[in-house]
Amino acid sequence: MRILAIETSCDETAIALLEATGTRQSPKFRVLSNIVSSQVKLHAKFGGVVPNLAKREHQKNLVPVLLQALKEAKLLRIKDKGQRTKNQKLLNSKLLILNSIFGHEPELLKNFLKAVSKLVVPKIDAIAVTYGPGLAPALWTGVNLARALSLLWKKPLIPVNHLEGHIYVNVLRGQTLTFPALVLIVSGGHTELVLMKGHLKYQIIGETLDDAAGEAFDKVARLLGLGYPGGPAVSTLAEKYKGQSLKSKSFSLQPSAFSLRLPRPMINSKDFNFSFSGLKTAVLYLLHEIKLSQKTRAAVAFEFQNSVVEVLVAKTMRAAQQFKVKTLALGGGVAANKLLRKKLAETTRYDLPNVNLLLPEISETTDNALMIATAVFFRKSKAARSPLGLRADPGARLA
Ligand code: KG4
Ligand code: ZN
Repeated sequence: MRILAIETSCDETAIALLEATGTRQSPKFRVLSNIVSSQVKLHAKFGGVVPNLAKREHQKNLVPVLLQALKEAKLLRIKDKGQRTKNQKLLNSKLLILNSIFGHEPELLKNFLKAVSKLVVPKIDAIAVTYGPGLAPALWTGVNLARALSLLWKKPLIPVNHLEGHIYVNVLRGQTLTFPALVLIVSGGHTELVLMKGHLKYQIIGETLDDAAGEAFDKVARLLGLGYPGGPAVSTLAEKYKGQSLKSKSFSLQPSAFSLRLPRPMINSKDFNFSFSGLKTAVLYLLHEIKLSQKTRAAVAFEFQNSVVEVLVAKTMRAAQQFKVKTLALGGGVAANKLLRKKLAETTRYDLPNVNLLLPEISETTDNALMIATAVFFRKSKAARSPLGLRADPGARLA
């Protein structure tokens, strides 16, 4: 099965083409293309993602990204003149419905009509799209493009939960998910511990009560005067602390100068929930109390990162033990964090040597459409929706 996937839940305009064969137990994937057009630089000026700016950029970028993805996958074919006239007739007959689909995205409609009228229907079997969770104006652009393509190309439309993408990207490179499995999802919008008893069977056993882990990184980055997105900036600064590199043996969760000052929120609570907003406030107070220099700022970043990683790892390991899981997996933008990956790997090897740990490729941790396409392979038995009935759902939960 050949899948075209679209992802626009936040500030990346992403489209991928993936070929999937085999069974759910031993799937085989071949990446045909994976295009991500990032808006990070634009939003950085505002210190975070501005939903309506994201929508404007998605409208501008979606069609060019689609063409590039098809081209790289060698699936882009332009119609000859005769075919174009025929196609124009078809488009005209669908104009009313396309106008209603793109009612709130006139620029996307314009780009769609201009480019799609020239395309031969590509050899794909399904169109997948992120329907939620995410920012409503951003989600709708991808959902509407998917609805329009599905209608025009007569391809089934399969909605995918964004978090499901972050989970399933773990099996893209031939890894196997054995059950029960526990997935720690850590992104800009979510911090969730998800127990899976089988494919697509999710039970959220813990989640953040306030800020998500990535959000905490972003907010602390702002306090430290670093740019957006904050995660990579905070962790680069943390690595500079005392000039210690991650490769050095001495770099571990050892106490730093401020270890007594920053809390490890909820580390001993009996549940599997998290809370990071108090930690951010503690950083704020700490920054007011100390003499700020490059070195002390690096120490704060180091200590903050230690606190987040320590809490995430401790709770994840406790849940993995309690539910006797066979696989432990990590997903979401914060899964790019080197210390988190290192500590999770070390602790699993030491405490749960029989557990299979899956870590996504760093380049595939942040938002992309390949993860959405991968998830669809496991969803294929579920009925596809009629294109007109699909709606974006900004607050979608894993189900
Ligand atoms: O999954 P993602 O791309 O978007 C959402 O679905 O939210 O995650 C983005 C989040 C941002 O908060 C960003 O600061 C964080 O992931 N992030 C990191 C790192 N790289 C990205 N956090 C910590 N360390 C990193 N290296
Ligand atoms: Zn994400």
